[in-house]
Amino acid sequence: MTTRITIRKPDDWHLHVRDDEMLRAVLPYTAKNFGRAILMPNLIPPVRTTADCIAYRQRVMAAIPPGSKFKPLMTCYLTDDTDPDDVERGFRDSVFTGVKLYPANATTNSAAGVTDYKKVMRVLERMEKIDMPFLMHGEVTDPDVDVFDREKVFIDRYLSQWIKQFPKLRFILEHLSSKDGVEFVKSAAPQVGGTITPYHMVQTRNDTLGHGLNPYMYVMPVIKTAKDRAALRKAATSGEACYFLGTDSAPHPYARKVAVHGVPGMFNAPVAIETYAKVFEEEGALDKLEAFASLNGPKHYRMPPNEETITLEKSPWTAPKEVKVAGPDERAIVYRGGQTIEWKVVG
Ligand code: DOR
Ligand code: ZN
Repeated sequence: MTTRITIRKPDDWHLHVRDDEMLRAVLPYTAKNFGRAILMPNLIPPVRTTADCIAYRQRVMAAIPPGSKFKPLMTCYLTDDTDPDDVERGFRDSVFTGVKLYPANATTNSAAGVTDYKKVMRVLERMEKIDMPFLMHGEVTDPDVDVFDREKVFIDRYLSQWIKQFPKLRFILEHLSSKDGVEFVKSAAPQVGGTITPYHMVQTRNDTLGHGLNPYMYVMPVIKTAKDRAALRKAATSGEACYFLGTDSAPHPYARKVAVHGVPGMFNAPVAIETYAKVFEEEGALDKLEAFASLNGPKHYRMPPNEETITLEKSPWTAPKEVKVAGPDERAIVYRGGQTIEWKVVG
């Protein structure tokens, strides 16, 4: 039985670190184990322009613990009014790594997202021309579509058309949550890649709804069935280049998670790589962890993999229940907090 594994340092291709006090509280967890992370732009107000992004990147850099070589990769929040010239400037100046689509009102802080795809076609054309990746929250918000079908309907209505319309544009369907999503990505690879969170591979909707309402488990896209979970686990552990690590670690103040109108998002950075290791071990695929965590993402984003390594050991520890955030009674609840975590990063 493998009890120790060394892999190239992973990257997180989908991460929320927020801003200000929350940023300072949560970023060190990612900076410790990951070489790079794609930072989501859904702040209030969002990171919409190159100028916004330069300012946000400075705040992020200031929150990186001293001595860490962690590198933040920044994204542009797509709106109906995004200027293709600004996007191109930001990309050429290495400010933006990609553009992120939030369909308006699909999830947390997405009110400024896209309301009409016709309005952003010029941006997509420009991105295709300059070979800039397009990251998507791939769900429809049509009130007639069941919340469990939002990903599939987004693919059927939009993404399956866009890949033909923009044959050279590189897409990332983020936080894959369904068997349909997994199958679509494989069918459209290498043009389309997909990230997979730890929690979509561990939980099912029973954990959210089946034993009393558990608002901590509320995320977008919602956690689905055991069949979907099985497909996600198989995909991630297959080693196929189109699937890669993206935690979607998304901290929220405790009060907002448990509010009657609770917000979607789960803060998993303190246990992220450890939870992926658990899943890969359970699937008998620890030998594929490095491809998923450290090689496939850089390949899709056309970057070199990290040179450093991390070592994980089978050595149980208890995850913290919450992380304190400076400010009056502020804290973020940790995914798997208080539970025994099987794997530990030891070097
Ligand atoms: O659950 C989610 N939380 N899904 C998202 O797409 C956004 C995220 C957040 O920002 O909290
Ligand atoms: Zn996200």
